[in-house]
Amino acid sequence: MSLVGRDLVSVLDFGREELERIFRTADSMQRFTRKCRSQLKNYVMATIFFEPSTRTRLSFETSMHRLGGSVIGFAESGVSSVAKGETLADTIRMVESYSDVIVLRHKVEGSARFAAEISGVPVLNGGDGSQHHPSQTLTDLFTIRKEFGEIDGRNILLMGDLQHTRSASSLAYGLGHYKAITLSLVSPPNLGMRPEVTDYLENRDVKYQEGQDPADFIGEADVIYVTRLQKERFPDPKKAEALKGSYILTRELLKRAPKHAIVMHHLPRIEEIPLEVDYTPNARYFQQAANGVPVRMAFLYLSVYHSKYHPVKQREPTLRSSDTRRCANSNCISNQPREPILPMLKEVMSKGERVLQCQYCGRYTKE
Ligand code: CP
Repeated sequence: MSLVGRDLVSVLDFGREELERIFRTADSMQRFTRKCRSQLKNYVMATIFFEPSTRTRLSFETSMHRLGGSVIGFAESGVSSVAKGETLADTIRMVESYSDVIVLRHKVEGSARFAAEISGVPVLNGGDGSQHHPSQTLTDLFTIRKEFGEIDGRNILLMGDLQHTRSASSLAYGLGHYKAITLSLVSPPNLGMRPEVTDYLENRDVKYQEGQDPADFIGEADVIYVTRLQKERFPDPKKAEALKGSYILTRELLKRAPKHAIVMHHLPRIEEIPLEVDYTPNARYFQQAANGVPVRMAFLYLSVYHSKYHPVKQREPTLRSSDTRRCANSNCISNQPREPILPMLKEVMSKGERVLQCQYCGRYTKE
């Protein structure tokens, strides 16, 4: 399927062949990350970031500049009219009329899906809440593919705060496209991968195991993917403080990994990877971040080049049969009272129990 005009809301929206097409294009973009090209000349990209970012925003902006396009936007909500009370919906309606593609980062889950529904230009999700971070996942999969030649068959240890880290859930979704993956999910108690993600892994026949001690799994790992404690997403900051330092990939621990194992991190890292690991042959997190440029160049090129503005005709939310029930996630876009949106819940089975899954934030609601 053509990628022209496509949104990038979640890796779940793409097939394996489409991912491969993005990676092949990223392969060819690698030669141009320090040069200026002109494919996206006269196209404008808007970056609207309501949460802090270094890598995602700057690498998207670099990518657009390298492709010859222009960039507008803001990097914090305080400098936009959101500070005066403007809704996300109205913001998107404005920004789509000024640009050819929108990159959005927002703390509310499902906001990118909602923005894509009401935008006439492609919406690229720069991370929404704890849910999806598809451009990070494309970068991560590209890095693994580049390192090992293929993604199939890899043993991946994912460690840290798996409940709140969108790069972790998004990567788990991405790995569901590949064969013979072994995934070890290591986290402190109560910070494990959310059930909608593990259900997805089961439905895709991804072999996964869960535990609390990385030493139990590191000896088999091809990839050790470390995540940060997402303290900003804890309802009670004291709980985050109590868990500080609970997962540290020391050089000693790394010695137990196979020689060929690579260490990845979505960054920023705080204390979970000490500086001493930077000087080991296993460290790949800075190359991983650098790979974000050819990957984002590839997606921008495939989605935006030759794309047309398609005004959205039906913006008024219409009632559906399940609309009387609400998503239980208060941080879901469908629970933001001033946004013109209605809940969209679908019945699914989880561990033998019938639950409702929100089609915006992906979370489960018990009936
Ligand atoms: N990996 C990542 O999303 O980094 P930023 O928050 O700096 O964009």
